[in-house]
Amino acid sequence: MYYIGLDVGTSSVKALLVSQNGEVVRSATPEYPFQTPKPMWAETDPDVWWDATQQAIRTLLEEVNPEEIAAVGLTGQMHGMVALDGKGQVLRPCIMWNDQRSYQECEEITSKVGESEVLKITGNPVLAGFTAPKILWVQKNEPEVFSAIDKIVLPKDYVRYKLSSEFFTDVSDASGTSLLDVGARSWSPEMLDALGWSGQWMPEVTESTEATAKVSAEASASTGLPVGIPIIAGGGDQAAQAVGCGIVREGLVSATLGTSGVVFAQSDEYRVEPEGKLHAFCHAVPGKWHLMGVMLSAAGSFQWYKNQLGSEEQKREEAGGPNAYDSLTAGAESVPAGSEGLIFLPYLSGERTPHPDPHARGCFIGLSVRHEKRHLTRAVLEGVTFGLNDSLELMRGLGVNPEEIILSGGGTRSALWKQMLADVFSSRCSMVNALEGAAYGAAVLAAVGCGDHSSVESACDEWIRQTEVVEPGPEGGSYDKFYSIYRSLYPSLKDTFHSLSESSSS
Ligand code: XUL
Repeated sequence: MYYIGLDVGTSSVKALLVSQNGEVVRSATPEYPFQTPKPMWAETDPDVWWDATQQAIRTLLEEVNPEEIAAVGLTGQMHGMVALDGKGQVLRPCIMWNDQRSYQECEEITSKVGESEVLKITGNPVLAGFTAPKILWVQKNEPEVFSAIDKIVLPKDYVRYKLSSEFFTDVSDASGTSLLDVGARSWSPEMLDALGWSGQWMPEVTESTEATAKVSAEASASTGLPVGIPIIAGGGDQAAQAVGCGIVREGLVSATLGTSGVVFAQSDEYRVEPEGKLHAFCHAVPGKWHLMGVMLSAAGSFQWYKNQLGSEEQKREEAGGPNAYDSLTAGAESVPAGSEGLIFLPYLSGERTPHPDPHARGCFIGLSVRHEKRHLTRAVLEGVTFGLNDSLELMRGLGVNPEEIILSGGGTRSALWKQMLADVFSSRCSMVNALEGAAYGAAVLAAVGCGDHSSVESACDEWIRQTEVVEPGPEGGSYDKFYSIYRSLYPSLKDTFHSLSESSSS
């Protein structure tokens, strides 16, 4: 038998066909763009995800007899608002996780409910990326859409609806809406009532391993999946990514260098950072929670840097030379820790952790004529690493003291970056065999949800193993003074960032 893990991502659907012993047998990743019709906006037509999902499933089924699929597990980008009318028709494009238009609505919700109540109930402050402020934005700006709303679903749950005609979500994804009582793992009547919204809009919420729905006849005809295959609840992409790396027990922590950067810690109890600087969400492991710090531009900062300043390296790559990222990091290896006094702030898309500020911006600080491109490269890698360390330090403040940190994401192809992470974290870091991210975690949840494994923990024990260990090296201490300067920069520059944002939007 096989499991399908489906990740409804920001720029692609990733579909994995995974065998009973956890091997990835086939994958498909049809891509799509998202739209930015105005500054700070990000939207996608949900049917674009559904088209890509059907295509991806058909590709996987070229490899096996469809009757051998035991279950489908879902994951996807979190926080997106998909509004549907009474006939299940999409009312407007999805307002996505990286859309920052609703920052004023965050303040409005917070003052209606009360800052400490919001934090106590939802585990987090209301942030512009989250779902509730988007709903309020629609209520204020698109009343005709608002009055037609019958259901509000998250991106992966729209795909579930198209696969099954049924509405469900899971606790980990629902945690990012600002409407879930995260401690109670159910929708919060306090939040919904304070906003005057109907609880009927929200789909039933279950644990991530529940078999929530079944493939319908209509979806069977368009995907090739047999009617009745169970669709397992699944999880938000970060919770599923963590499951895919084996972060399923108290004390285990991961750091992911994707476009965004995430530090993730499993927690057996519901713990909230007193100022709400870390996200406190339900985990995809039933009855467990997690703490999470999210940087908006991690490996995304390095991608931006390569695109803007790495044209020479890119040309060499196009002419059959080494990968442009590898050429850039090779240059950075000759630069000492601290980049000879050059610091990069990675807030290219605003920031979430530890500075929830859509107006924060990136910068190089300390440039001198001595600096060369290799220094700039190293400063970018260091700045992102310092940003991740900010999240880890907040976790350490809550008593999370991991023995090692499991690394994942595209940035970990660089040996220099992995060593830098171990040095700055002052912690052993390791890599695991499962490199397929959230979609792999969704396949784990599928295997548990259909009853082939008794628990998420036992499935991970069987499928996931360590492949590499990176110990902190002698350079570790040399980062300390630069990290403390890095930490002082955002507070000093905050007002400047806000003035710049105001002047560039007028
Ligand atoms: C998590 C988050 C991102 C998105 C898109 O809080 O905002 O991980 O889910 O990947």
